[in-house]
Amino acid sequence: MELRMEGLTKDFKDFRAVDHVSCVMGRGVYGLLGVNGAGKTTLMRMICTLLKPTDGKVTWDGKDIFKMDASYREILGYLPQDFGYYPDLTVQDYMMYISSIKGLRPLTAKKRTEVLLERVGLRKLKKRKMRNLSGGMKRRAGIAQAMLNDPKILILDEPTAGLDPNERIRFRNLISELSEDRLVLLSTHIVSDVEFIAGEILLMQEGKFFLTGTADEIISGMDQAVWRCTVPRKAVDSYLGRYLVSNVKTVPGGAELRILADRPPAEGAAIEEATLEDAFLLYFGEKAGVDHDGKI
Ligand SMILES: Nc1ncnc2c1ncn2[C@@H]1O[C@H](COP(=O)(O)OP(=O)(O)OP(=O)(O)O)[C@@H](O)[C@H]1O
Ligand SMILES: [Mg+2]
Repeated sequence: MELRMEGLTKDFKDFRAVDHVSCVMGRGVYGLLGVNGAGKTTLMRMICTLLKPTDGKVTWDGKDIFKMDASYREILGYLPQDFGYYPDLTVQDYMMYISSIKGLRPLTAKKRTEVLLERVGLRKLKKRKMRNLSGGMKRRAGIAQAMLNDPKILILDEPTAGLDPNERIRFRNLISELSEDRLVLLSTHIVSDVEFIAGEILLMQEGKFFLTGTADEIISGMDQAVWRCTVPRKAVDSYLGRYLVSNVKTVPGGAELRILADRPPAEGAAIEEATLEDAFLLYFGEKAGVDHDGKI
């Protein structure tokens, strides 16, 4: 079980969206983390053979995925970022419809649908129309359809977008469960989505993997420490201008700041344990966890 990318590159006219990405993936969860426009979707679409690379190649167990054709689609499951569901179909009919596109036999499709809807917690809602599902429920249906062919490679593009924090946690658990015997690659710009479930985190910026590793490896590679200090309220703006500040909390008489710096930013500053959120702030220069529409 080996998915290998070598020098994978995608140009859109004179714009390079993915720039010589090389990586080897096996069983487990891989978290592709990057800000809007980093190239996550473009990379995933190439791995799903929906987009032809400008350069480089992708192999599955040594075979070129673009030459594997149907035998590759059999082992691939994909939840697109803007996945199209059919609003008037019931959840069950939607699953049967996708099964027919994937070439599953009706009896197999029915069995898989039952099992998967149970697994994603939608069994009781199978007769409900897709249009009447909540955002989180739709995403679950999206994951269920991607799992219909019991894929070895499961690609989930922003599976948690727009979910509330509770749904997010349920989602993480579901994805962990699904990763037992397959490769799961999921993209997000929410650090906490991958911090605990992804064995390997791939930080993507401007089309490149500029840092990869476990959460601990990425955190321990930071060349700045994290400090906590309390400053007078009127000094906050000046700190925000001079330092990378990952959090501001109002406290009596001032504000408590969480600051990334290589030396104490204020008298009495105490060292705090760094998190992956801090690393994200350090490397991307912006805070993680802000959704497309500005929601946390
Ligand atoms: N078909 C296309 N034609 C031209 N440019 C494109 C095309 N698809 C993507 N791009 C550009 O490539 C870059 C990467 O886009 P991509 O969708 O892969 O980013 P992303 O990391 O998935 O972002 P997001 O977090 O917003 O989903 C962006 O600058 C985007 O505008
Ligand atoms: Mg995207």
